[in-house]
Amino acid sequence: MSDSQWHDIGAAADFRRRTVTPALAGTMKLAVTFHEGEFGCISGVCTHAGGPLGEGELDGEYVKCPWHNWKYHFRTGLGEPGFEDDAVPRYETRVENGRLLVNMASATKRNRRKHPPNPLARKAERAPGPPRVLGISTTSMDVANPRYSTSDALLDIALEHAAKELHVETQLVRLAELKFRTCEGYYSKSAHACTWPCSITQMDPDDQLDRVYEGLVHWADVVLVATPIRWGNASALYYKMVERLNCVQNQVTIANRVLIRNKVAAFIITGGQDNVQQVAGHMLGFFGEIGFHFPQFPYIAHSRGWSAEDMENNQKYVMMSPDLREGAQALAARAVDHALLLLDHGAAPHTTSRGGRKAHRLALEEARAEAAEAAASPTGEPASGAEQ
Ligand code: FES
Repeated sequence: MSDSQWHDIGAAADFRRRTVTPALAGTMKLAVTFHEGEFGCISGVCTHAGGPLGEGELDGEYVKCPWHNWKYHFRTGLGEPGFEDDAVPRYETRVENGRLLVNMASATKRNRRKHPPNPLARKAERAPGPPRVLGISTTSMDVANPRYSTSDALLDIALEHAAKELHVETQLVRLAELKFRTCEGYYSKSAHACTWPCSITQMDPDDQLDRVYEGLVHWADVVLVATPIRWGNASALYYKMVERLNCVQNQVTIANRVLIRNKVAAFIITGGQDNVQQVAGHMLGFFGEIGFHFPQFPYIAHSRGWSAEDMENNQKYVMMSPDLREGAQALAARAVDHALLLLDHGAAPHTTSRGGRKAHRLALEEARAEAAEAAASPTGEPASGAEQ
């Protein structure tokens, strides 16, 4: 083994200060560890989804990835017990004249065990069959002792009309009946830490939001979302779901991969007090952002305004109103008609032009940043992203 493979990565004393330190050997990212007086060096790039192991922490003898907690032995690079096949390269180290050297020629192989793919990860292709309508109820209630909900009642009417009169398949998901975790902010660590399928869905078999993901991405042509107005906004459960849907939008941002194609969304919004237009504005903005189309007049709503606090009467009006019943049925019909138009139109794009879309850096800005980087570099070259 030639000495030329040894890279000086810095003063050994600097690497003794922390248990895990990120380092570079040329362009290779490394995670250097110091544990019980011993140095270790493994790749700085996690085998799972590329997380920065050098920014992780030591858990016993294992470096824990800061993104989704996969662990690698600090000396061998092998995965934690039971997952040894999920390994990152490890490198020999030595200290010479107070400097820490890493032998890049000593790298072991990166390996990823064959994990069964999550069913949601399959290609988002519409299965043949008649149009399919998914209703999503976002109102919260004691499921064991259900109460009358105006938004649920209108959603039920819309779905019943879709099934009986429009002869489409229907499904209803009530968020109140699902156990699902709040979004834990993987996106806040890094856009690439927010994965599709959702990181929580992949890690937690008890999390039930996979039913919503399955319905939205793979099954439905039409999604009817019903929400009450709570303090001028959609329901807390609605927002809990929407935060978890960030992973659908993020696929466009990080991979230009459009998961929602040729699908229609429409909304039912009811509340004791007003703020219908703000709630509708949010819903239209969010569902448009993840790729849904809308029929003409994409929502129906009912509110008796600021001064009406007699909720019992509000419920009676919704129960007895032929207008609202007819409105819910017509909303379902408009949404299904629109879905049929889209399905007739045929293929929908799997990618989209990124200019002007969320988190797209203009080429002009990129060129300026690269020029600034090159001007600051001793070699006059912008840094490369080469990685092992
Ligand atoms: S655990 Fe490292 S990227 Fe997911």
